[in-house]
Amino acid sequence: MTHPLTEINHRLGGIAYGGDYNPEQWPRDIWHEDVRLMREAGVNLVTLGVFSWSRIQPRPGAYDWSLHDEVLDLLHAHGIAVDLATPTAAPPPWFTRQHPEARPVTASGTRLAPGSRQVFCPSSPAYAEAADAVVTELAARYADHPAVALWHVHNEWGNHNALCYCDVSADAFRSWLHERYKNLETLNEAWGTDFWSQRYADWEEIEPPRDTTAFRNPGQELDYRRFSSDALLQRHRSEVAVLRRITPHLPITTNVMGTLEKKIDGHAFATECDLVSIDHYLPAADPDGHIDLALNADLARGMAGGRPWMLMEHSTSAVNWQPVNVAKQPGETRRNSLTHLARGADAVMFFQWRQSRAGAEKWHSAMLPHGGTDSRVWKETSALGAELASLQEVTGTRVRSDLALLFDWHNWWALELQARPSGEFRYLDAVRDWYEALWSQNITCDLVAPGTDLTSYRAVVAPALYLLSEQDAAHLSDYVERGGHLAVGCFSGVVDEYDRMWQGSHPGALREVLGLVVDEYLPLRPHERVRLEDGTHVRQWTERVEPRGCATYLRFADAADGGPARGGPAITRHAFGNGTAWYAAARLPAPSLQALLRALSDEAGIAPVIPASAGVEAVRRIGDRESYLFLINHTEESVRVPVVGEELGTAEIRNGEAVVPPGGAVVIRETAAPVSPHPKRTFT
Ligand code: GAL
Repeated sequence: MTHPLTEINHRLGGIAYGGDYNPEQWPRDIWHEDVRLMREAGVNLVTLGVFSWSRIQPRPGAYDWSLHDEVLDLLHAHGIAVDLATPTAAPPPWFTRQHPEARPVTASGTRLAPGSRQVFCPSSPAYAEAADAVVTELAARYADHPAVALWHVHNEWGNHNALCYCDVSADAFRSWLHERYKNLETLNEAWGTDFWSQRYADWEEIEPPRDTTAFRNPGQELDYRRFSSDALLQRHRSEVAVLRRITPHLPITTNVMGTLEKKIDGHAFATECDLVSIDHYLPAADPDGHIDLALNADLARGMAGGRPWMLMEHSTSAVNWQPVNVAKQPGETRRNSLTHLARGADAVMFFQWRQSRAGAEKWHSAMLPHGGTDSRVWKETSALGAELASLQEVTGTRVRSDLALLFDWHNWWALELQARPSGEFRYLDAVRDWYEALWSQNITCDLVAPGTDLTSYRAVVAPALYLLSEQDAAHLSDYVERGGHLAVGCFSGVVDEYDRMWQGSHPGALREVLGLVVDEYLPLRPHERVRLEDGTHVRQWTERVEPRGCATYLRFADAADGGPARGGPAITRHAFGNGTAWYAAARLPAPSLQALLRALSDEAGIAPVIPASAGVEAVRRIGDRESYLFLINHTEESVRVPVVGEELGTAEIRNGEAVVPPGGAVVIRETAAPVSPHPKRTFT
C-alpha cells in the first residue's frame, strides 16, 4: 500500500512545502497576495485554521464558515493543497467564560486565566463536548472540499496544559488508576505506600501529586504523568474518531514535539496517526543545535517505523520563546531543511507563512517576513521551494538504519523524579551523548521505543534506560541471546515500571545479560573529573562495577584521579548467547564513547555512511533503483567527498568528488549501488 504522504506528494507533484497559514490575521486583499507569493515560493501545501476556533464559532452553537470557505476555494484555485487543522488548541473566549471550571489548575492550586492558548483541562467534559462538536461541524463542512489533503488534529497536544491538578482531573486520575490497578492493594504495593504512612484505604483518598511539604510519592508522580499524557491521547482519539467517521478517505496526523516536549508520550500519539509529523526548533543556546535537529529527525523516522514523515514546523530564522532568540545565518534554513529531508522527511513545512503583525508571535520569523519580498529570508524561502521541487525524485525513498537507539518518555519521566542520586544527570543529556557519538561517525540510527521489534537491527544502544519493565528487559536479553549486539549506558535497568527497585544487586533488569553487578552508583560532584585509562576524563557519573562473566574493555585510572571506582571497569563487554552486551559504567566522554560504538559497530557489521570527517554529516536514502547521498557541511571550509554518482539539484561533482561548500549541503544520485553495505542481519 502506498504511504499516505507519498500519495499526497504524488498529488502535489513533489515534496510538500509550505507552512501554517493564518489568513484570519489579515484582510482579504492580503489573501490574494498570499496565494500569488505562495506560488512564487513553490508552496504547495499549507496548514489552515490551527487557531481559528473563535472565527469559526464566534458564539455557542453559531458557526461562520465564510473565511474558511473563501480561503479554501482561493487556495484550491491556485493549486495549493490544505492540511486542515481542527481548531481545538485554542478554545474561544466564550468557552472559557461559560466554563470557568474547564480552565487548567497548576500543582499549587492556581486556576489559570484565559488569554493565551490551550487554556483547557484535558479531562474537562465541557471541553470534550465543545471540541468534538466543532470538529464534527468542520469535518462535515469540508469532507469533500478538493483542496483538503489531510487532517491536522489539534496542535502540539499538551504543549502548555498537559499537567492539570483540578478536581475534575483528580476524579479522572482515580478512574484511570482503578482501570490500571483494579484494587487498592495492588496500587498500594505498586506505589510503596507503606513508606511515610501513605497507605490508601479508599480510592477517594487519592489525589494528584499537588505541591506538598516534601518529596512526593514517586509512583504516584510517575502514574500522574502517564495519566496526563493518556488524558490528551483520549482527546486525540476522540477527534480522530469523528474524522474517521465523516471523512474516512482523508489521512490524519498531529504534530508531536519530539524531545522538545517531555510531558507527552510522543510514541503513543504517533501510533494513532496515519502519518507521523513533528515540529523542530533549534535550541539557540546549543552551538551544535544541528545535532539536536538530526536526533529529532531520527526520532520522527523511528516513530514512523522507517516510513516517510512530515516536518510540520520549523523556523526560517529566529523564534520568540527562547531566552535569546538568535537569527539563523544565511544558508542555515536550507541546511536544516535538507537534513530533515536526508533523514526521511517528505514534507518541509514552517511556522508560519506570513509573519504576524500583532499578537504573541509577532517576533517569530516566517516564510514571508515583515520586510516582505525584499528580504534575505524571503529570497531563501523561494530558493528553497525551487530546490525542493528539483529533488522530487527523492520522495518515497527510505533511510535504512542497522542500529536502533532506545528512547522512552516513561523512562525520561522516571529518571528525573525527585530524590535521586544526582540531580545533574538528565535523560536528554545521556541520549545526546550516545546519539552524538554515532552522528559524528556517520552511523545512522532510528530512535525507537524499548518494546519495538528489534529483529531488523544489527545493534541496539540504550542510554540511561533507568526504568525497564520485566517484559522489555526480557525483550533485550532475548535480542542479545539470539545474536544481537547491545550497548547499555550507565544508570540503566534500575527500576521496574512502577519505579520500584529491581531486587538484588543493580542493575536488576540487566545483570545477567551484561554479566556484572553494580556495587554502588557513584555520582561526582559538580566540576569533579575522573581519569580513565585511555587518558580521557569523566564528569558527573561513575559506578563501581564487579564483573560476573563480562570482560573489561576500559578501566578507571588506578590512581588518585581515578575517582571513587579507581582501577575498576568503566566499559565492559559480555558474550551472551549468540550476541554481545556492552556496558558503560560512567557518563563517558566523547572519545571513549566513540571507541565503544566503533567496537560495537565493527562487531555487528555496521558501516558508516561515509568515513567520519569532522563536521560533515552524511545520510543515505535508498529507493528501489537508486540511492541518494546527502552531504551536509557544518564547517566553514569547503569539503570534498569521493562519490560515485551524479549531481542532483545544486550539487557539484569534480573529478569523482562532491564539492560541499562551507555551510552547504548537496545531494548525489548514486550510480554504483552502495544500497546495502551488508546484507540485513538474520537471527539464529
Ligand atoms: C510551536 C507551535 C506554533 C508556534 C511555534 C513557534 O510550538 O505549534 O503554533 O507557536 O511553536 O515556534
